[in-house]
Amino acid sequence: MCGIVGYIGNSSAKPVLLNALSTLEYRGYDSCGIAVKNGSIAIHKDTVRVEVMQLTSPALDGTVGIGHTRWATHGEPSSINSHPHTDCTGKFAVVHNGIVSNFQKLRQQLTKEGHVFSSETDSEVIPHMIEKYYQGDIEEAVRAALDEIEGSYAIAVLTADENKLVAARKDSPLIIGVGDGEMFLASDVPAILDYTDRVIYLEDNDVVSVTKNAVRITQDGVDIDREEHRVLWNKEDVQIAGYDHYMIKEIHEQPRVIRDTIGDFLLSSDAAKDSGIEIGDDLSTLSIVACGTSYHAGLIGKYVIEELHGIPVRIDIASEFNHGRRTIRPSVAIAISQSGETADVLSALKRLREESVKTVAITNVPGSTISRVTDQAIYTKAGPEVSVAATKSYIAQLIALYQLALSLPGMNRGIKRSLISQLKQMPGKVEQILDGTCGIVSCAKFLSKHENVFFIGRGINYPIALEGALKLKEISYIHAEGYAAGELKHGSIALLQENTPVIAIVANDNTYDAMISNIKQAKARNAPVIAVASEDNEDIQAMVDYVIRVPRTGNMFSPVINAVALQLLAYHTAKFRECPIDFPRNLAKSVTVE
Ligand code: F6R
Repeated sequence: MCGIVGYIGNSSAKPVLLNALSTLEYRGYDSCGIAVKNGSIAIHKDTVRVEVMQLTSPALDGTVGIGHTRWATHGEPSSINSHPHTDCTGKFAVVHNGIVSNFQKLRQQLTKEGHVFSSETDSEVIPHMIEKYYQGDIEEAVRAALDEIEGSYAIAVLTADENKLVAARKDSPLIIGVGDGEMFLASDVPAILDYTDRVIYLEDNDVVSVTKNAVRITQDGVDIDREEHRVLWNKEDVQIAGYDHYMIKEIHEQPRVIRDTIGDFLLSSDAAKDSGIEIGDDLSTLSIVACGTSYHAGLIGKYVIEELHGIPVRIDIASEFNHGRRTIRPSVAIAISQSGETADVLSALKRLREESVKTVAITNVPGSTISRVTDQAIYTKAGPEVSVAATKSYIAQLIALYQLALSLPGMNRGIKRSLISQLKQMPGKVEQILDGTCGIVSCAKFLSKHENVFFIGRGINYPIALEGALKLKEISYIHAEGYAAGELKHGSIALLQENTPVIAIVANDNTYDAMISNIKQAKARNAPVIAVASEDNEDIQAMVDYVIRVPRTGNMFSPVINAVALQLLAYHTAKFRECPIDFPRNLAKSVTVE
């Protein structure tokens, strides 16, 4: 993971680098650092958040520099292990996102040749390799170093000898922000939004040399052109806008996100044709690969497609996909990834592409690696998501999956019309949850005093139990398990007692009676029960300890409403526990290691 930035222009580099880094902290935030050139290279790095470094870093003069925010892989978070790293002479400073998989071999070799290492990181071999090969041309030296490096990288290199930045990428994202008389390098678009909306997305094996007025991109030493794009996101999208946390801001953006993601789909009389979603003629078997919250979205997608079309949908956790024996070859595989950079999803896609399977990405990030390696990309319109816990991007994925299901051929027109009309009502229903607190804050206060919680759901809301538990544990650090409600009695019910709350998602569908039985089973073991139930359910209050009321919706769309309620529950619980909600410990938003 990690975020890297670079700047070259006429402004003082330090504030630009730190400002850009502050927008990339979702990629890692256990330490950060910058290097600025003013004749020689000056470095400041520490195990602090960027906002602290903005206040505490010494004056570093110079109009060219690089920066890094870290999610530790090799070596604990420490000042020494933070980036930028340098060679023995201090002439080359490097920031790196990725993993140098053959670093041990390279390090041994370099050590024999007299190089002295100071950190435990894999990344430190890169400046030493550049030093080894430098003979007056920094691009040549970077190329020669990268020829020997195995693994993944996005790097930015600062050299004391030349007024330019050199950068390269392989299997880790890197963009160039094009300004007037200034240029930027960054892992992701939010870093440049304060300065420019012009962006070049780099491809694997690109080596770039950037001065304040020019960009030169080469592959194997041969010059190539890459198209410049206008970014659709704007800087307001990454501002906190008076909210206490990005997470709550992003939860509140969800009605807009649903409207934007639906977009033209609802304006069309024949929704399928104008949706822009065409996943091919052979739809005999579908496959979905994804991780974490995106996997939970995929589980709902599977349910909806199977229910509406009877097409078998296989779903895999992406990191498991490559290990399992496969008995069927899907006709189309759908990769779901908010960031579009998740390494586990990329390696699953590699296998699918080797098998010539048609691939479709559902992603929130235009230009992301996954969107470029798949045959078709469906873009969700969540806008940039800063908080590490996925909320609006997840809801946007659900909406995209509903649209996909509604776009597949062969649907009964009446059913389709009715579902589209329900889909249209979703922004309003989500607004209803956001407007009232629906009892969520008092439930959160209660929950915040516990250390173990079960979420139970059935049918299409079983994945919502998984997602509710994931959201709670990642931001409040409460241990939570998501369960198919009927499974609890097959073992885990042994854990239920008076201090183990159970959150039961009570849907108004054919699972209702079974869920009421499960609630009674939990109550009989003295477990406090919080029900998430529709506003008009008059019976539920008498059976449980707390009720979170949600607007009534059609069965198919109830996951959207229930997910928003559980996002709010996790948020307020974490707030009561005074957790660092937007940047939970040990996590990063874009998981670019396997
Ligand atoms: C949890 C969360 C993660 C991601 C997972 C996949 O809130 O955000 O579980 O869903 O790391 O990330 P993407 O969707 O970027 O592939």
